[in-house]
Amino acid sequence: LSTTRAEGGRPINIAVLGSTGSIGRQTIEVAEANPDKVRIVGISAHRNTELLEQQQARLRPKYAIATARLSEAIASDQLIELVTDGDIDLVVVATVGAAGLKPTLAALKATKRVALANKEALVMAGPLYQDAMAKDAALVPIDSEHSAVWQCLRGEDPGSVEKVVLTASGGAFRDLRIEDLDSVSPSQALHHPTWVMGPKITVDSATLMNKGLEILEATILFGLPLEKVGVIMHRESIVHSLVFLNDSSVKAQLGVPDMRLPIQLALSHPNRWPGEWPRLDLTEAHDLHFEPPNWDRYPCMGLAVEAGRQGGTYPAALCAADEVAVDAFLTGAIRFTDIHRVVGSALDFHLSADVSYESVLAADREARARSRKIVKELMS
Ligand SMILES: NC(=O)c1ccc[n+]([C@@H]2O[C@H](COP(=O)([O-])OP(=O)(O)OC[C@H]3O[C@@H](n4cnc5c(N)ncnc54)[C@H](OP(=O)(O)O)[C@@H]3O)[C@@H](O)[C@H]2O)c1
Repeated sequence: LSTTRAEGGRPINIAVLGSTGSIGRQTIEVAEANPDKVRIVGISAHRNTELLEQQQARLRPKYAIATARLSEAIASDQLIELVTDGDIDLVVVATVGAAGLKPTLAALKATKRVALANKEALVMAGPLYQDAMAKDAALVPIDSEHSAVWQCLRGEDPGSVEKVVLTASGGAFRDLRIEDLDSVSPSQALHHPTWVMGPKITVDSATLMNKGLEILEATILFGLPLEKVGVIMHRESIVHSLVFLNDSSVKAQLGVPDMRLPIQLALSHPNRWPGEWPRLDLTEAHDLHFEPPNWDRYPCMGLAVEAGRQGGTYPAALCAADEVAVDAFLTGAIRFTDIHRVVGSALDFHLSADVSYESVLAADREARARSRKIVKELMS
């Protein structure tokens, strides 16, 4: 799209998958703040039918789908019908875990513009997205770090990029002694120091699996080798990421931690819309800290990078195992420090294959089954 509005000057018509979640709700806020620019044509949720019905009553979309009420096959068919509808210009994928894979690929195939928050759906099948992008599929990031990199890369020759560095807050337990991590509770893990997000990503931020997934996300979105994507700890979440260039310039994007900014940019691209969101005021005192990550403290980040290095269906197995492990931790079945054990064991057992749609789904199924078995063993 060369303008923010679809042809004829009408607002862009969007679908929001995962409209009841943290990113989904903030996407609706952005749309409601820009009623002349965005129209919500479809929404979907999983279990939270109460909020979905409220959103439906307020927004009056053409589609409102609650997937948990449907069989997997029917839910998938309905989401695909929604994202490929002729009225839709752009699909916001704000589901969590593997749930977004099928509709995202269907939307890209139907040449819809996709604004992607659901990083697991990207990471599990990177080569399929790269094939789609090679055919000019329009995929824009919502993740704040990738939105920052995307903004810094604008106008730069890809050959000038020496390194992309993603910032990491360190999550809920960044100041805890490593030996105390064994006994942390789910409610402690769900308390992120700088962002308010859904439960899966908040736990992933505490293990830094989230940053590992983001490293892989950056390699896919920006076509970079793993060696060119680094991580730096930055507790304030003000600098959202940095790009180091070959003339020794460094570009960074800054802002208060507020996901409505990258969400709005994903909708307005290639333009910017004036926004009334909180503004960064650097005339106030701001201490900005940076330090290298301690990889021993965060084994999940290393597992993610290793899965990316191995390639094939390892990233799909990684994502599936992490979903099972985080769920098991949140329900009290395993300890926080078991999360990396479940993921590590599932990857040890994984037999990788070349990436195809079918092999990714098979890897997802196999790693889920294996991880559930490992969880049971840890519980006994
Ligand atoms: N939150 C953030 O600030 C943030 C920042 C960067 C990236 N992200 C990424 O954005 C994605 C969404 O994160 P979130 O924090 O918004 O998560 P969330 O608050 O847990 O919301 C997830 C959404 O997906 C729906 N959903 C869950 N399971 C589903 C399934 N099996 N099929 C279809 N829909 C399903 C949920 O529906 P119900 O509510 O009805 O169950 C909800 O609408 C994640 O991949 C995350 O890593 C989030």
